[in-house]
Amino acid sequence: MPETHHVDRRTFLRHGAATIGLLGAAPRAWGQAVPAVREYDLVAREADVPVGDGRSWRTWTYNGQVPGPEIRAREGERLRITLENRLTQPTTIHWHGLPVPNRMDGVPGVTQDPVPPGGRFTYDFIAGPAGTYFYHSHVGLQIDRGLQGALVIEPAGANSPADREHTLLLDDWLTITPEDAYAAMAGSSGGGMMGGMPGMGSGSEPPYAGYLVNGQVTEGAPPIRVAAGDRLRLRLVNAASATTFRVGLTGHRLQVTHADGQPVRPVEVDTLVIGMGERYDVLVDAGNPGAWALVAGPVDSVVPGVITPFLYASESGPGPRPAVWPTDLRRGRTLGYADLLPRDTVTPAGETPRNIRLTLGGSMMGGALWTINGQRYPNADPIGIREGERIRLQFTNATMVRHPMHLHGHFFRLVDRAGHASGAIKDTVIVEPMTGAVEVEFLAENPGSWLLHCHHAYHMEAGMARVVEYR
Ligand code: C2O
Ligand code: CU
Repeated sequence: MPETHHVDRRTFLRHGAATIGLLGAAPRAWGQAVPAVREYDLVAREADVPVGDGRSWRTWTYNGQVPGPEIRAREGERLRITLENRLTQPTTIHWHGLPVPNRMDGVPGVTQDPVPPGGRFTYDFIAGPAGTYFYHSHVGLQIDRGLQGALVIEPAGANSPADREHTLLLDDWLTITPEDAYAAMAGSSGGGMMGGMPGMGSGSEPPYAGYLVNGQVTEGAPPIRVAAGDRLRLRLVNAASATTFRVGLTGHRLQVTHADGQPVRPVEVDTLVIGMGERYDVLVDAGNPGAWALVAGPVDSVVPGVITPFLYASESGPGPRPAVWPTDLRRGRTLGYADLLPRDTVTPAGETPRNIRLTLGGSMMGGALWTINGQRYPNADPIGIREGERIRLQFTNATMVRHPMHLHGHFFRLVDRAGHASGAIKDTVIVEPMTGAVEVEFLAENPGSWLLHCHHAYHMEAGMARVVEYR
């Protein structure tokens, strides 16, 4: 069972006060106190994990649960997280979205040697900026075994805009090993470009047994309970390996307030599409008493993947379980990247950025061949940049499937249709199929070697990755 994914404001503050220990009493400098330390232990180990309907899977976990425990800190606190590896393979942890110092980034062979079986490694960094993040193994396909968990950084000093909040980690559930799934996909002639198309038959995606919210299938998903008048914050995280989700809540609209943890101008939608590695924070005003359904499922399917009951105080029972996506959600407004406007005012950069063109490719000839500019990582040239440079990444998708592209160690800004880098701040962006194009811009201000890759775990494993290297 997941530890706790429901925090109300008072509980969190109390809990927070009790677990913070100060390193020392003396301030380092005027007005600058030594940051409080929050320590966590994550033990990577095999366990039997129930999914809520009587079934369970034997898989790899943090602390015996999928997802792993939610990590919380306040902005400015120091996080010290010790990974202990009790698996039979080396492993690491990556703090997805957080611009940590390079050697804490958890990429094997790039920022650290993987932690061997029986070994330990302590990740140590200052928490920030505030937002919704997650952590996961960055070795091979281990993320698809369940080595993942939420990481939430609360703003320092600020109170939550919501009466309560829930973190919802979305996942696709694989009951065979990801290595077997990969081998089957690599061997199938239906793989590669063609295989990724919905309805094109098997071989394109791993054979998922179902979909999970916080490790639970529909039958096991604990209801979200609300009282009329409540304002709820939902932190949505797509921790899946190969599934782009659509999310909606019957009877309510979603007010999107943050994309990839960073504030945007609030925008109201009926559903949103969330790629692997993306996060959205949404507010829901509970003004429509009844029994409702928070629906999440593969974006191209009309059958909901997993349903969380959304119940007002007077309601009992398991809640509604629509067999297909309710039409009002299907016909409603879907969040698009053009809707995401930053909450800060963007001052146009003085100098022009340096453009780097990146064509995302795949092959018709086999399932496991995904490229950037024709090269397959690790047999691929690093992308060299210099500190202080403004870099514009110009993605074009020459394949027939989506690629959620993620850059480590930095946030970037979405470039709008007019070519201005004035859009929302994100760290993962979906590049749509069949010549879809997206541009993002970032300032090179966090030296090191950073991975840039597709967050489809199987695409990354098959080569759709590069190292961005400061020179
Ligand atoms: Cu979610 Cu390379 O990471
Ligand atoms: Cu991809």
